[in-house]
This record gives sequence, structure tokens and C-alpha cells, in this order.
Amino acid sequence: MRDEGDPLWVLNEYRAAEVHGAGAIMRMGRLADSAELGSNLTRHLRDEAVHAWLWTKAIENLGGEIVEVDLPYQARLGVHYGIPGSLTELLALTWVSERRGVTEYNEHLDTLDVTPAIQKTLRAILRDEEWHVSYIEEELLRRMRRDGGVQGVIDRAMAADDLAMADLRGGEAA
Ligand SMILES: [Fe+2]
Ligand SMILES: [Fe+2]
Repeated sequence: MRDEGDPLWVLNEYRAAEVHGAGAIMRMGRLADSAELGSNLTRHLRDEAVHAWLWTKAIENLGGEIVEVDLPYQARLGVHYGIPGSLTELLALTWVSERRGVTEYNEHLDTLDVTPAIQKTLRAILRDEEWHVSYIEEELLRRMRRDGGVQGVIDRAMAADDLAMADLRGGEAA
């Protein structure tokens, strides 16, 4: 039953997003073209798997069930960007999506009805998410110095992110 106001629904969305993230990072890990990126992506994969587990446990502790949920942001991002054709494109898409995750978790932390247990989980996860954003940003900057085309890829990912968010906000207003 879709009820977006239900805290368990929100936790299921978080869980699904972390599981999705883990899958995407695992696939990207095979494309790593330096030992440093390979190591960072492996640590990143570990983090996303831990996050998926933390939300699964939070749902269980609340007596909830795991349910299949849509990932509307990821779907809209894919529609607007298209299929990424290179590691740089995957990194740029991951970077915008990780930034969205940080914003969403911070917004949840700022709500008045957040319970201490959820607060603790959000804070722990946010520490990792902030690292994800920063190491990918550094990697993109490194690539940008070598290849003038990287800025265009980042711009396209940011534009797709804006359009995806506009779609979601439009859907909410409807
Ligand atoms: Fe995560
Ligand atoms: Fe992340």
C-alpha cells in the first residue's frame, strides 16, 4: 500500500535507494582505471551495503516489512540523461545522485518528528555520504584536468538532476 507519509514507507525508500546504489557502485568498480579509484569504489560499495543493512534493521526494529518501492528520482535521472557510456559519465551521475542523497537525509534530520534512533542512523550514514560526494568530486576534477570534455559531462549530469527534481516536484503538486 503506497503511503508516502508512513515512516516505514520512507525507510523502505531509503533502503531501496541504498541497495540500488550498492549495485551501481559494484558495476562501476569493474571499470576503475586506477588503483586509487578501485580502492575508493570498493570502500564506497562497502558503505552502501552497510547503509542498506542499517535501514533494513531500522524497519525490522519498528516491526515493519520490506516492501518493493519505486525510485522515482533514479528513474527520472535516467530518462533525462540517457544511458551513460563511460566511466566519467557514471561518476558524474553518481556524484549528482549522492548530493541528492545528502540533501534528503539532512532534510529528514531537520524534521521535528525524527526519533533518536533514526537520527543516529541518519548521522552515521551522512558521514559516509559526504565522503562519497567529496572523493567523486576530486576524481572528476582530476579527470577534468586531463580532458576538457569532462566539464560538459558534469554539466549534462547536473542538468538531468535539475530536470529530474522538477519532474518530482511537479508530480507532488499534481
Ligand atoms: Fe548510502
Ligand atoms: Fe552514497
